[in-house]
Amino acid sequence: MGSAVVLVGVLMALMSSCCAYDFYVGGRHGWVKHPCESYNSWAGRNRFRVHDRLIFKYKQGNDSVLVVTEADYNSCNVADPIGCYTDGNSVFQFNRSGPFYFISGAAGHCAHGQKLIVVVLATRNPIPSPPPAPAEPPYWPPPTPSLSPYPSPASAPSTPGNSPSTPLPPRPSSSASDLAVSKVSLGLTLLMALGRLLG
Ligand SMILES: *[C@@H]1O[C@H](CO)[C@@H](O)[C@H](O)[C@H]1NC(C)=O
Ligand SMILES: *[C@@H]1O[C@H](CO)[C@@H](O)[C@H](O)[C@H]1NC(C)=O
Repeated sequence: MGSAVVLVGVLMALMSSCCAYDFYVGGRHGWVKHPCESYNSWAGRNRFRVHDRLIFKYKQGNDSVLVVTEADYNSCNVADPIGCYTDGNSVFQFNRSGPFYFISGAAGHCAHGQKLIVVVLATRNPIPSPPPAPAEPPYWPPPTPSLSPYPSPASAPSTPGNSPSTPLPPRPSSSASDLAVSKVSLGLTLLMALGRLLG
């Protein structure tokens, strides 16, 4: 029982962290001085949410990513960034909703279009739940009644009052404790497997 609770907890943890996406800024062209598609039109084709990540690819040492204010974005001011990344493979994770402003830190690059605004959406599930499905019968056929065309020999003629001459012997009292022991060992096995999974 306890291991089942642990399993459910692990599954829920996996599910809650499953839905953050990585976006490669500029697609395969990366973070460059003369993007063939403006970064803001690239951003307009995507939906960004809290915990999603932007990945900027560029040549390390020749460029950088600056997180700036709206005013510095508009004026391409590289002098006072909020954040600065220079490693060539810069990962930025959104920790709130709202607008984020990025410009290149390399001289002249921002003025040549190496700048990006991303507006992060507030919630992941804004879609209202769909109306309840109409009460139609399901498409798949209902389970066939027990009149199987291939009677198995095991379920041979079920005579009513199934052979009263051989009543089931009372179960020995040890079997109950055996069952308990096997449950415990199953739980232990599950826990050990979980432990190995979680490293
Ligand atoms: C690095 O930047 C310099 C100066 O901006 C430029 O001349 C050079 O072509 C760049 N190198 C690469 C590999 O982009
Ligand atoms: C988001 O991260 C920035 C920079 O690390 C930080 O200054 C800011 O307070 C954070 N915002 C929230 C809502 O956590």
